[in-house]
This record gives sequence, C-alpha cells and structure tokens, in this order.
Amino acid sequence: MRTVHSLKELRTILRSYRQQGKTIGLVPTMGNLHEGHVSLVRKAAEAADIVVTSIFVNPMQFGANEDLDTYPRTLADDQDKLAAAGNTLVFAPSADEIYPEGLARQTKVVVPEVSEGHCGASRPGHFEGVATVVTMLFNMVQPDLAVFGEKDFQQLAVIRKLTRDLMIPVEIIGAPTVREEDGLAKSSRNGYLNEEERAIAPVVYQTLTSVAAQLEQGRSDFDDLAREANDTLAKAGLRPDYFNIVNSQTLKPASEADRELTLLVAAFLGTTRLIDNLSVTR
Ligand code: PAF
Repeated sequence: MRTVHSLKELRTILRSYRQQGKTIGLVPTMGNLHEGHVSLVRKAAEAADIVVTSIFVNPMQFGANEDLDTYPRTLADDQDKLAAAGNTLVFAPSADEIYPEGLARQTKVVVPEVSEGHCGASRPGHFEGVATVVTMLFNMVQPDLAVFGEKDFQQLAVIRKLTRDLMIPVEIIGAPTVREEDGLAKSSRNGYLNEEERAIAPVVYQTLTSVAAQLEQGRSDFDDLAREANDTLAKAGLRPDYFNIVNSQTLKPASEADRELTLLVAAFLGTTRLIDNLSVTR
C-alpha cells in the first residue's frame, strides 16, 4: 500500500490504474481511523478494484470554536489499519495542497435545503466545508464509486444531492453505522470522552431505539416524543443540541403521512459533541 501527499503523484498513479482498466473506489476520511472506517474500506474493496482512502482534516468544515487543532492525527496507525483492510492507496495531502490560495479565496460548494437545519443550523458553514472538499476529492480522484458512513446521515444526504445536482459521475454508497457492544456509534471523537462520560454515552442510542419503538407502535406526536427524548438525554447528564424526527428523504420535520422516518440526534457530553441517527419504517 502506498501513501502519497501530492495531487501530482496521486494523478500519475491513478492514471496508470485507469489505463489498466481498473475501477476506483474512494473513501474520504479525516483519519484517526476506527472499525467504522475500516468497514467503509472493505465495502469499497468489494465494489472496486482499487481503493483510495483520503486522510485530510479539512479546516473548512470546522467552526472557529471547534476541535480543528486537537483533532487526532494518527497517520502511522491509520496506514496499518488500511493495509489490513485491503486499501490500495492513501492520499494524505497538506492543507496547502488542497487550499493553495487559503480558505478565504477558495471557491465553495453550497448545497441548499438538506444542509439547513440539524447540524447545519448548529454548525454554520460546516456542510459548505464538507461539500467543497468532497467535490474536490471527487475531481482529484475521479472515482467510480465513493463510500460514506450512514452515521453522518445529514452529511450523506448532502453528498448525494451535490453529486446529483452537479452531475458528478460517481456512485455514492452508504455503509451502516458500526457500534460498540453497548450501542455507542463508533466515532473518532469518542476518544475525547473520559471514563465517566463513556459510561453515560450509550444513552444516546438507547434513546433512539426507545423512540423508534414508540413510533413503530403507532405514536405520531412527534414534538412530544422529541421533548421526552431531550429530557431523557438531559437527565442522563448530556446537553442535547437537537433531537429531530424527520422525513428520511427530505430531512424536513416528519408529518403524519410519512412512512420512512429518521431520528437525528446531537448532544454534548462534557465538551464532546456526539451525533447519531436511526431510521424507522411505519
Ligand atoms: O465524514 C468525514 O470524515 C468528513 O466529513 C469527510 C467526508 C471526510 C469530509 O472531510
């Protein structure tokens, strides 16, 4: 498995694979890889001949008071995990390689509607940063397919829409959330939790499964359900950012007629912001 840091090297290697008629799968990441990322790489390896994993902590998607500087950078460990998972090539560029003129002068990709609300409301500019870097990665790698985790449900919806709207010829594949045994969704940010917080964290998934069960049993008082979920999270020691019950396609507030619903949650545990989601068919 090779690691390259420049776009020039990336393009030279990929050109040769393409000339050999190989298909290319892309797994965009910010590194600090865990089993969730490994599952994305395995999925890409099932569907494409060559798997490129990008590792880039994208400054454009972090807000001013967020964890850009402290976000864990663990390239050597990541390379070991990727090699074992069947990855072919790692693309680990610097910020200067991706944004040579700086963030302020960079052309940006804005995805209306699905970017608004939920994490888009709590983290202004976040999805603009994600959409921009993912579009650039698509242009740099020109993959046949790209795999993203369903844990970032809104992000996946944003990426599906930008791919459709900008007519980018890449197949977007969503991969199921990988969880710890107690239900906590695997996330690079789980490493920020102290022992006490880690013991509380599974309440997020427990709350999702409890609300999903009530929806399946016929409850449709969405606002009450969301209020109760926020209370449960708060009583357990979390600070809920939002708990929203939405139409799975539009991500707009659920209505009585909707059959496919998704519960979206974000909550702070200490200074760590956890997100998760669960989809329900009624
Ligand atoms: O999900 C992530 O790790 C990031 O948002 C992504 C898609 C790699 C873009 O920086």
